Amino acid sequence: MKYKETLIGSDIEYAKKLLINNELVAIPTETVYGLASNAFDAGAVSQIFIAKNRPKTNPLIIHLGTIDQLKEIVKEIPEAALVLLNKFTPGPLTLLLPKNHLVPEIVTAGLPDVAVRIPSHPLTLSLLQQISFPLAAPSANPFGYISPTKAIHVQRMLNGKIPYILDGGECKSGIESTIVGFKDNKVIIYRQGIITKEDIEDCVGTTYLNESKKTVAPGMMDSHYAPHTPLYLTDNIETMIKDLGVSDIGLITYNEYCNTLPETQQILLFKSDNYKMGAANLYAALHEMDSKSYKAIVVKKLPHHGIGAAINDRLWRASMK
Ligand code: TXA
Ligand code: MG
Repeated sequence: MKYKETLIGSDIEYAKKLLINNELVAIPTETVYGLASNAFDAGAVSQIFIAKNRPKTNPLIIHLGTIDQLKEIVKEIPEAALVLLNKFTPGPLTLLLPKNHLVPEIVTAGLPDVAVRIPSHPLTLSLLQQISFPLAAPSANPFGYISPTKAIHVQRMLNGKIPYILDGGECKSGIESTIVGFKDNKVIIYRQGIITKEDIEDCVGTTYLNESKKTVAPGMMDSHYAPHTPLYLTDNIETMIKDLGVSDIGLITYNEYCNTLPETQQILLFKSDNYKMGAANLYAALHEMDSKSYKAIVVKKLPHHGIGAAINDRLWRASMK
């Protein structure tokens, strides 16, 4: 262990001091907690890969405080990207744009584009606006495991590996940002999120989902967000529970409880079709279920559109081994 204990607090001055000294700090965002370092310092960035046990071939998102700061690290911004930036940022949207010389190769894993986003969480936005460098930050979980939406999730997963977690409460959106790229005047969606395909199309017209099996970046690989307990995603929970043939199952469902299992073994992600609430509760539900020694976690698939599709994507990857 590099540190005796990872501290949790809301001392922005202390977070700044650590980051200026090229140390890592977990930061709250509106999506999930990130594990941040000075994006301009290759040595500081390499600490992120070590703490997360993340392959160096998997690039990181750079977080900035303003659109002007963003302009300083990219070569150009296509018209559609500007429209999306003006509409959705600060907020849960990441754009892939051609990087300039200021961005170290380690951040993009050698790719020509850099992922950039301006988060809207007030504490982190204020931190970003007070420091003279942007922050590289992946989600603050060990590689492949469930993303954190509370400071305590980060502490449980990375205790002793980082000095400090800046506590900004529970993440409101709860799933990672939507990622968009721009190619031959087309807008391509690489990762779905709270800002949906429909939201983006309202601003820039037709978009394309990147469904190619060839991953743009290794981080978009299939197995991801996965609990240690085997997870089964299904349309038909009754049949799945019967097929599994055991009763120590944790069930994550929505709108109403299932009669087959005791309610104490179930988590309702949301009621009354409130999908936004479902996204906000998703990772906390997975963390909780994974902490109970169940033989299996069964999750009911959501209707596959809008935020439902973004949640299903996480769950599908969580079910891959
Ligand atoms: O909401 C979020 O985006 C959170 C918070 C902390 O901002 N961050 C996050 O980072 O989800 P991470 O590293 O867990 O996921 C970033 C994804 C990965 O799949 C990575 O491969 C992809 O973005 N990515 C990053 N840079 C890229 C690049 N230059 N080209 C293509 N994909 C990239
Ligand atoms: Mg991640």
